[in-house]
Order: sequence, then structure tokens, then C-alpha cells
Amino acid sequence: MRARVTSRPTGAASSRARRKVPADEWWRTEGGFFLLSEAHRAQEGPLAAEFLVKVLRLPPGSRILDVGCGWGRVGVELAQQGHRVVGLDCSRVVRLGRMIAEQRGAHLELVRGDMRRWASPPVFDAALLWGMSFGYFSDRVNVEVLRRVGSSVKPGGYVVLDLHHRDWYLANYLGEHVDLVQGKVSHDEATFDVASGRLQVLSTVADGQGKVLARQYHSFREYTVEETLQAVRSAGLEVSAIYAGLSSRPRPPGPADSSWQLVARRRRSGR
Ligand SMILES: C[S@@+](CC[C@H](N)C(=O)[O-])C[C@H]1O[C@@H](n2cnc3c(N)ncnc32)[C@H](O)[C@@H]1O
Repeated sequence: MRARVTSRPTGAASSRARRKVPADEWWRTEGGFFLLSEAHRAQEGPLAAEFLVKVLRLPPGSRILDVGCGWGRVGVELAQQGHRVVGLDCSRVVRLGRMIAEQRGAHLELVRGDMRRWASPPVFDAALLWGMSFGYFSDRVNVEVLRRVGSSVKPGGYVVLDLHHRDWYLANYLGEHVDLVQGKVSHDEATFDVASGRLQVLSTVADGQGKVLARQYHSFREYTVEETLQAVRSAGLEVSAIYAGLSSRPRPPGPADSSWQLVARRRRSGR
């Protein structure tokens, strides 16, 4: 089964993308909130790609699946290095990703679809759930997503998660955050529900005069490191190593590390 997708080669999509998502209104797209708050973190794309190539020792031309790819912050970098990248995202932000990829001369396939329904033969050398793309759903469905993603990689292939961890969020992220990005005010209000272990974020984008342009609500399951390892194992994957802060030397994350990376592998035999 394949996910319900509207897959199109990057080039063919770009003229439509230009029409539907005017570049000066990119923040209106679903996922635009993420873009807005992450636009100033675009420099993390090259760092992520560097980390992945080094840690996974990816040979040129590796096939990489970028799940919850957003506008392709990481996938574009990998594609520009000659890897064959497929990015999957449910948001219309993939249209913007196609425009950006075209502008940068990067060849990657950006597919619009739901990771909960994703299915592919095991053709990928590595699959990514990068930049907090894991944890949107119930625990059962989160594991099911990992299972589906794991089934898309070759036996021995990698599944890599890049996450904040719960303790970092609790210490650093609760409350209000206001940011000014490209003339727009981004306001996030984050609360944490201890019973469900979920972070809830109400994001608002306003113009310079304070007029609300858009509002979105997000809910993420915030796993501890140990809970994440358990989820990965429940999905039938083997934990290979964990890293913190994109350092290529394995180590568990400390309270001050805002991000950590988990490298898992699909078993060589079996599923
Ligand atoms: C936090 S962003 C990370 C984007 C990207 N990986 C990066 O690091 O820049 C998470 C992305 O997951 C996407 N997403 C959320 N639910 C999804 C689903 N059910 N299927 C596919 N993508 C989804 C969102 O649209 C968003 O672009």
C-alpha cells in the first residue's frame, strides 16, 4: 500500500507552487508556523546533513527518505550532495520546498502524504524523522509510524530521529515565546500536560501592527530518552547509538542539550 500522496517531480510542480503559494506569503502555508520559527535555524540544515553523512557513512548516491521533511531543510542539503532524497510531508509546505529546491538546483522528490499511511518497498539506505517530526500521535500510532518508516529501509539500513527531549522542554520551553522573523511576529504559548506527557503549543502569527494572521494548535508527545528507545525497539528496530547536539561522538544527552539524535537500524534478517 502506498500513502495517499500527490507525488510530482520537483520541476513539474514548481510553476503551480509559485501560483498557489506566493513567496511573500509563505507563512500562510500549513507548516508555515514551523517555517517561521525555524527560518532563522536554516543553518541547521547543513549541520544536520554533515552529521548524517559522517555518522551513517553514507556513500554518494544513497537513497534517503526524509519523513516530516517540512520545506526540506535537511533533504535539500543531502540532495545537493548527490544523495537521492524523497521527502514526505502532509503539509502544503512541500510546495514551497519544491520552489526552494528548484532555486537551489537540488533534485529531490517532495511528496505530500501522511506518514501514518506511508508504505514503500525497502529501498532506502536511511530514513529520517528529523527536527521533531516524531511524536505527533498516540503512543500506539507513533510506534506504528516507526514501523512503517523502518519497513521502507533496506535490511541493515538506518532510521534516524532528531528530537528535543522532554526534560529540555520542561526546563526551557514552557510559557510564552515571541520572535520577530521577516517582519512577522511569531508568538508561541507552550504548556505541558503531565498526565499524557504531551506538550501543547498554541502558535500565532501576527503582522507588525499586531493583527493576527493565522493561528495553529500543536500537540506533541514528549518522550524521555528511555521511552524513545523503547518505542524504537517496539517498532522492531535495533538501537545503534545515541548522540547529543549533533556531535558525532556518541553520548547520551544532558539537561542542557537542546537536541539529541537516535540512530537505529533495521535488522539484517527478518522484517
Ligand atoms: C517540526 S517539523 C520538522 C520539519 C523538518 N524535518 C525539519 O527538520 O526542518 C515537522 C513536520 O512534520 C510534518 N507532519 C506532521 N504530521 C504529519 C503527518 N501525519 N504526515 C506527514 N508529515 C507530517 C509537519 O507538516 C512538519 O512539516
